[in-house]
Amino acid sequence: MTLIADFTGQTALVTGGASGIGRAVARDFARAGARLIVADRDAIRLCETVAELAALTPTPVDGVELDVTDSARCDAVVAQCLAAGGGRLDVLVHSAGIGIERPFLDTTDAEWSRIIDTDLTGTFAINRAAGRVMAEAGYGRIVNLASTAGVAGGTGRAAYGAAKGGVIMLSRVLAVELAAAGVTVNALAPGAIETELVARMHSDTTRKVYRRAIPADRYGTPEEVSAAALFLASREAGYINGHVLAVDGGFLAAGVMHKD
Ligand SMILES: NC(=O)c1ccc[n+]([C@@H]2O[C@H](COP(=O)([O-])OP(=O)(O)OC[C@H]3O[C@@H](n4cnc5c(N)ncnc54)[C@H](O)[C@@H]3O)[C@@H](O)[C@H]2O)c1
Repeated sequence: MTLIADFTGQTALVTGGASGIGRAVARDFARAGARLIVADRDAIRLCETVAELAALTPTPVDGVELDVTDSARCDAVVAQCLAAGGGRLDVLVHSAGIGIERPFLDTTDAEWSRIIDTDLTGTFAINRAAGRVMAEAGYGRIVNLASTAGVAGGTGRAAYGAAKGGVIMLSRVLAVELAAAGVTVNALAPGAIETELVARMHSDTTRKVYRRAIPADRYGTPEEVSAAALFLASREAGYINGHVLAVDGGFLAAGVMHKD
């Protein structure tokens, strides 16, 4: 793949970096020369990922265990990034997240809390930790993984859609509050992307329904989302702020479609 930007000399933190979209983003940052810190709650897959990334770059890669629902740990990991990056954290791509497909009327209190705590409150905690040091430094790029489910209503997406809609609004408010400090905050809204999360969430029936609704007539790849993440994280994207970029094969643009 042709890289969109050079991140040599920059420090990047990727959460959820041990799988799927986050792992693809981490690979691209490694190839683009960033000093990389990959954070995930899955310690075993984190080790595998760091080994894979280390083979792609001469620049050191650190793996840190992090559950983003623990805000004190988010602060500690950002402090670790500063130490590793010689006092700077230039980029946060926040990809850690979980999903659920459950009709609203069947959603339990525990399911609701689990999704909101991880996907929305976790975004708050890691964005606040990174935003503070970036604002202090006068430079930063934050890219949050939202979802098309945070933009358009869909069956089974009560908790997930509410959390991702919250991620979008949180990103906009941070963009406004941090703009003067040289920090941009943007959100990505991927559609259906082939990852383990989707393998867990999408039944065969769901897949058929999605395919019909996607003009591109296919699911996307983690690498296609990563390309958008690196663009928004680049120095060159400095005047793009508070934006929600759909990476969805046209899903959100579509109305009635004749596909047969
Ligand atoms: N795959 C899709 O179709 C799709 C679509 C829209 C949005 N997204 C979003 O993109 C992001 C990445 O999704 P993915 O498809 O790569 O999923 P994935 O399951 O492949 O990877 C998610 C990673 O996040 C980690 N994680 C989960 N909870 C965590 C926590 N509390 N703290 C730290 N790490 C945690 C997991 O261990 C995993 O490594 C998620 O926020 C997801 O909601 C995915």
